[in-house]
Amino acid sequence: MTNTLFDEVRLGSLLLPNRLVMAPMSRTRAGADGVPQPIMATYYRQRATAGLIIAEATTPNQVGQTYPDIPGIHRAAQVDGWRRVTAAAGGRMFLQLQHGGRIGHPDNSGLHPVAPSPIPLPGTIFTRDGHQPTVTPREMTTGEIRATIADFAAAAGNAIDAGFAGVEVHAGNGYLLHQFLAQNTNHRTDSYGGPVANRVRFVVEVVRAVAGAIGAERVGVRVSPGNTANGIEEGDTGAIYRTLLGELAGDGLAYLHVAFADPEDGFFRAEWPGVLIANPALPWPGPLPEDGGRRAGERLLAAGADLVSLGRAFLANPDLVARLRAGAPLNPLRGREFMYTGGESGYTDYPVLDTVAV
Ligand SMILES: Cc1cc2nc3c(=O)[nH]c(=O)nc-3n(C[C@H](O)[C@H](O)[C@H](O)COP(=O)(O)O)c2cc1C
Repeated sequence: MTNTLFDEVRLGSLLLPNRLVMAPMSRTRAGADGVPQPIMATYYRQRATAGLIIAEATTPNQVGQTYPDIPGIHRAAQVDGWRRVTAAAGGRMFLQLQHGGRIGHPDNSGLHPVAPSPIPLPGTIFTRDGHQPTVTPREMTTGEIRATIADFAAAAGNAIDAGFAGVEVHAGNGYLLHQFLAQNTNHRTDSYGGPVANRVRFVVEVVRAVAGAIGAERVGVRVSPGNTANGIEEGDTGAIYRTLLGELAGDGLAYLHVAFADPEDGFFRAEWPGVLIANPALPWPGPLPEDGGRRAGERLLAAGADLVSLGRAFLANPDLVARLRAGAPLNPLRGREFMYTGGESGYTDYPVLDTVAV
């Protein structure tokens, strides 16, 4: 019998009351120093009825910072800020760790971005002064690769200190780990570049170092197979993910999280023996379906996913679980300008059911 979105499920040591996961979403509300602010505790507390919250992309070291006001987890003040968030939002939270690689700018991080190869993102990148042309990243040395892996492991330990139940290693959407996987961003000639078996090495080493630091049962991995976000052209998508999942399948990880999952294509239920979180491929950038993605999520559950993650529906509906359970209408998503702009508007001021007419 197929599970429903409202059935409980075990995830490592956590018992989740439902199978709806709040997908990680950058909301750029941390301060310039990457310290999570009290308003972020309010935002996540409002959404704490999700079976699991995967908190927004958070940088494990300074050079990995992508955009302005992205939170970090590599300084004591950042760890303290996150501790206030987890204290407010309960214990069912993972933190996504994201290094931007070439998706970065000296005006955002204060440092020159590094990447597998010196190949810039075509076009522009958002900075505090608006969009600016991207810069060519510096190719990471082997020593920098080792140091970055250690930074991920240390950041994971910090996340546990801050009260998270685990971390999600972000290997998708065109950021550093994805840049190692893809052909067009990885032209290295050492053991981290070239054939697929080499291009997956960095991701596998990051995941294993993080698992070594906090325990594999507290580590998830997010992938976005075939997604061309941030100028990515993987080249050999099928081989990349078969090889990567083959490497990681026996490691006892908490979960695999597949973004833009289509039950017909590239879904990986057969290749992944563990817990699978699937994020349905909904119209992007919009408009969202009226049910926020519920039916698409149910199709993924029927095809073998264990949990379903939704992003924008949770963004606009703090009480999404209650609304979906009741079949109540959803709040419409406000404009993109509210997603990344600071302050309460479009962040903590979306109404809940008892303040809207049902
Ligand atoms: C405002 C916003 C910020 C996002 N930030 C992240 C992020 O930090 N990390 C990530 O892996 N995906 C991020 N995403 C992608 C979401 O996790 C999710 O995959 C996407 O929104 C599709 O799900 P949906 O159709 O339910 O919204 C973001 C999406 C939105 C709308």
